[in-house]
Amino acid sequence: MRKKIVAGNWKMHNDLNETISLINELKKNDIYSDVIVMISPAFPFLQMALELVKKSNIEVVSQNVHQKPKGAFTGEISVEMLKSIGINKTIIGHSERRKYFNENDTVLLEKVKLALSNDLDIIFCFGEELLDRKSNRHFEVVMNQLKKTVLNLDKDSWNKIVLAYEPVWAIGTGETASPDQAQEMHEFIRKCILESYDKTTSENVSILYGGSVKPSNANEIFSKKDVDGGLIGGASLNAKDFQLIIKANSSL
Ligand code: 13P
Repeated sequence: MRKKIVAGNWKMHNDLNETISLINELKKNDIYSDVIVMISPAFPFLQMALELVKKSNIEVVSQNVHQKPKGAFTGEISVEMLKSIGINKTIIGHSERRKYFNENDTVLLEKVKLALSNDLDIIFCFGEELLDRKSNRHFEVVMNQLKKTVLNLDKDSWNKIVLAYEPVWAIGTGETASPDQAQEMHEFIRKCILESYDKTTSENVSILYGGSVKPSNANEIFSKKDVDGGLIGGASLNAKDFQLIIKANSSL
């Protein structure tokens, strides 16, 4: 059975005090036992976040990790560093990493393999740009992104992977893919996995949607059968909104 997940990607937001108060706010909120809640604060606050979420149902996830195990890579963070403070999951392949830090499919596959071989689970992000969609190439673009990365992995790796489809044109723009557009793409993604592996693998992977999810549209997006939850940017910075989005994904 695949899992329902709502993950907050805080990106480069929140200083120390803001991070503490947002986590404390989230901890006060209701718990929906059928939804896994994740937060991804900035690197300097990961260890503290892990302490703060103890005895809650919130998981702490890294926003990124470097592709090499160690070495002279000033400013970078390794898998081993994350593991050593107790982080067990990282986002890889976010479109902002691809766009502003030139992370291509080769580098992303390197990151994915290194993370998985060290038991660091991943949320793997991908999605088409506006031009791809306008020229009706979105399925082809997404299939290529997957083929060059996660579809190269062994079948066994798939229980450590969550996918996040994030159409670039919907990120931080206020423009959301319609629930039908999200469903259509998620169904297509599952088909790509089915063709490379088998039915169990394709049915068991959680596929999140990301891109301007907010309390007002979360219910409808999460009601789609192949959408297992969301990777939330802006709306995850507000405890009330994030909580409403978590609630929208719960069947309780
Ligand atoms: P927004 O929810 O702000 O559009 O961001 C989505 C995102 O990039 C999550 O990783």
